[in-house]
Amino acid sequence: MVRKLGNFDDWIDYFRYWQDSIGLPSGALREFNFDAKFGDPEVAHIEFGHYKGQRKWPTVMHIPDQRIRDALLNLIVYQGDTEFASVEQQRNLLHHAPSDYDLLSLQRVMTEEMRHGWQMSYLCWNAAPTRASGCSARSTRSSTTGSTSSPTRSSSIATASFS
Ligand SMILES: [Fe+2]
Repeated sequence: MVRKLGNFDDWIDYFRYWQDSIGLPSGALREFNFDAKFGDPEVAHIEFGHYKGQRKWPTVMHIPDQRIRDALLNLIVYQGDTEFASVEQQRNLLHHAPSDYDLLSLQRVMTEEMRHGWQMSYLCWNAAPTRASGCSARSTRSSTTGSTSSPTRSSSIATASFS
């Protein structure tokens, strides 16, 4: 299923739908307050490559080449996709954790992966809102069927595009 999303709030709704569709149980996994986190860069200048020594680009529009913007946005999409995909891969382990400690550890990892995906989606929607339909590939472009046992993996990465 591919939904038409207009903004990050729409994406959040779809994220909740995705959690339902892969069968994440209620409780700590669903109650975590996801948020995007940012810090100051360790250095203010670009450290290598063609633009070495120049001030780091504060926004997408400061990036001087569309090819670089496209490449970065694609990296964000793929990164987000792998974060959500790891949760899909791990979810069945919730039913087979050998101990409470293992279960808590697994829930922590899954929550962290969802937060990482949340971060990538937030970046994508805020960096390129007019082209964000390709953002956060797993949860917005996934062809999950609503089944809790076998989400499909076929369309998400290959269809991510910023053309
Ligand atoms: Fe991660």
